[in-house]
Amino acid sequence: MSQVVTYAREGSVGVITVNNPPVNALSQAVRQGLRDCLKQGQADADAKVLMILGAGRTFIAGADIREFGKPPQEPNLPDVIAEMEQSEKVVVAAIHGTALGGGLEVCLGTHYRVAVPSARVGLPEVKLGLLPGAGGTQRLPRLTGPEAALEIMTTGRFVPAKEALKLGIIDHIAEQEDVREAGLAYAEKLAAEGAKPRSVSEMNDKLEAAKKDRNVFDKARASLEKTARGQFSPFRIVDCVEAAVDLPFAEGMKKERELFKQCMDSPQRAGMIHAFFAEREAAKLPDVTKDTPRREIKSVGIIGAGTMGGGIAMNFVNVGIPVKLLEVKQDALDKGLAVIRRNYENTAKKGRISKDDVEKRMGLIEGTLSYDDFAGVDLVIEAVFESMDIKKQVFTKLDEVCKPGAILATNTSTLDVNEIASVTKRPEDVVGMHFFSPANVMKLLENVRGEKTSPEVIATVMDLSKRIKKVGVCVGVCHGFVGNRMLHQRQSQAMALVDDGATPWQVDKVIYDFGFPMGPFAMSDLAGLDVGYRIREERRKAGDPKAQELTWTDKLVEQGRHGQKTGAGVYLYEEGNRKGKPDPEVEALIEQHRKEKGITPREISDQEILERNLYIMINEGAKILEEGIALRSSDIDVIYLYGYGFPAYRGGPMFYADQVGVKTVYDKVVEFQERFGDDWKPAPLLERLAREGGKFGDL
Ligand code: CAA
Repeated sequence: MSQVVTYAREGSVGVITVNNPPVNALSQAVRQGLRDCLKQGQADADAKVLMILGAGRTFIAGADIREFGKPPQEPNLPDVIAEMEQSEKVVVAAIHGTALGGGLEVCLGTHYRVAVPSARVGLPEVKLGLLPGAGGTQRLPRLTGPEAALEIMTTGRFVPAKEALKLGIIDHIAEQEDVREAGLAYAEKLAAEGAKPRSVSEMNDKLEAAKKDRNVFDKARASLEKTARGQFSPFRIVDCVEAAVDLPFAEGMKKERELFKQCMDSPQRAGMIHAFFAEREAAKLPDVTKDTPRREIKSVGIIGAGTMGGGIAMNFVNVGIPVKLLEVKQDALDKGLAVIRRNYENTAKKGRISKDDVEKRMGLIEGTLSYDDFAGVDLVIEAVFESMDIKKQVFTKLDEVCKPGAILATNTSTLDVNEIASVTKRPEDVVGMHFFSPANVMKLLENVRGEKTSPEVIATVMDLSKRIKKVGVCVGVCHGFVGNRMLHQRQSQAMALVDDGATPWQVDKVIYDFGFPMGPFAMSDLAGLDVGYRIREERRKAGDPKAQELTWTDKLVEQGRHGQKTGAGVYLYEEGNRKGKPDPEVEALIEQHRKEKGITPREISDQEILERNLYIMINEGAKILEEGIALRSSDIDVIYLYGYGFPAYRGGPMFYADQVGVKTVYDKVVEFQERFGDDWKPAPLLERLAREGGKFGDL
């Protein structure tokens, strides 16, 4: 008998407990154990009702993702679930924590479902490039109707117990959180009432309406064209639900199996599962263990109430951590606070938080003009103007006023954290916390570990990232850290491509079609062309020979075209429209610019655009790995997935390199070095991997 699933009887209830930490994933042993315990329950004359529950922190969180891509092992989950549904004795699922993927599909195969109040359910397979492959696409619509089922499965969101009850996914919410007791009470009640088995597969009422009106499927597909562009599995989910409506259950199951297999075999599945594990791996640091002490963060000080500081503040108050927000002048502070309030009010208008929540969150932010108010805070994050002199002044002041043990963080996106730390008497407490704009939305947090940052401080900041619902990645100190350093390379290739003959719209389209939310020029327009201009101006003044000539975007800035905010940049923007239109005047300016530089433009292929944009980043990524700025290639992938909109189904730039083949990338880099010069000098690591037939993922 399997150790991970056990059977025991309590009163009239045969209790089947899944105990496969950490999340009771449905490994082969669990599937076999469920089958065996179900049989044992059938044979147990004293058991009137059978109940399935999870030991530890959760019900079953789904298939064992680590088994994907390996040869399937018997018994398969749909068969086990079918046996459960056909059981002569009533089977009940008692849910706590999360019932996800195959875990929820197990529940849908039982006859009754009870949950504790904090439980959540969901079919998040879409986030792994898959679809629910154990009957979920056929059973869920039978309980909720096709529309709700489509929404749940194509977003993969977790549905709280209360909503699950309303939608008909579960039958009852217990009053208590103890799942064993709650489940037993419910099962005993069913036994006493003489409840009979009832199969979800036989419930067809909610499918009837959709038989007559196909609108629900057309609408779902149209909406996915916008939200899931380029993805394979969400559209197959719609096909499956359509099959649930049109075909008898058994045939719908066949369709689900066929499409599940297509998803499983698709490279998108590999990319998204890589992303899943990469995100979890990023949280682990070699010199930080469970026993590394963490500091308690109960209050936070933020310097700068501008867009960045305000956005950062929202992350903390959203999870109940009070913030003191500092500005130099009262009107700047008032303006900053008003922007935060407006953001929350807009969210409330969309119904995502209540008016009460707005007040509660605003109540957690205290504006101040005085550093002295930071004396008691546990963490300070500085989000002031990107200038080393100003940052040094700020940190000198913080060193004076903050209590011993407070963590002093900078939100710099480029500057040397070690130099900033050097003005304090406690460099071990100084760290970078590089948020991405808009800071209340973007999930990435580059936590920059300085030479002297203590393990305790970096551990605290990494844990805190999760607490404020960010994905924290630890990086080392260099100009631009990981994300912006690589992006800078891509941006210079995008510019060079236009110099050589491409149009900005051609470059953007190639990058957009690859799966990024926007191309490099649309992105510059969003950030403001004046930002790069100002940096180059500084370098021009400092005599940097590489920055002496104006770029064509600098020339646009000198015409007052700063990007979206001025209605024109690389693109032209009509009032209220954030999507720009290509502008013939810009093409003329570029033409003139090429003439001045003596360049004869040539036809540039989309393939060259893609390779030059991506391979330059991969080559830089290889340098970053060699220098130890990133710990693992998968950390670089996580940074690009969460900070720069790299399409999740391609797994991130370094995973993409492994898919294309490191040797293929290297050969191109060598070719580009010959054609375009030493910006393309291959990283020694890239060269070595290409020679050895290695992969970044195997390092
Ligand atoms: N299989 C294998 N390992 C899993 C797993 C799974 N389904 N889900 C989580 N884990 C592992 C994680 O990798 C992590 O391992 P390490 O500690 O070694 O890094 C550990 O469990 C804990 O996970 P988290 O750090 O994510 O813990 P959390 O408490 O933040 O979140 C969770 C828990 C909500 C369950 C989250 O892990 C999660 O969303 N898991 C994925 C759920 C999912 O996608 N299920 C569907 C699977 S596909 C399927 O079921 C197909 C089908 O139709 C049959």
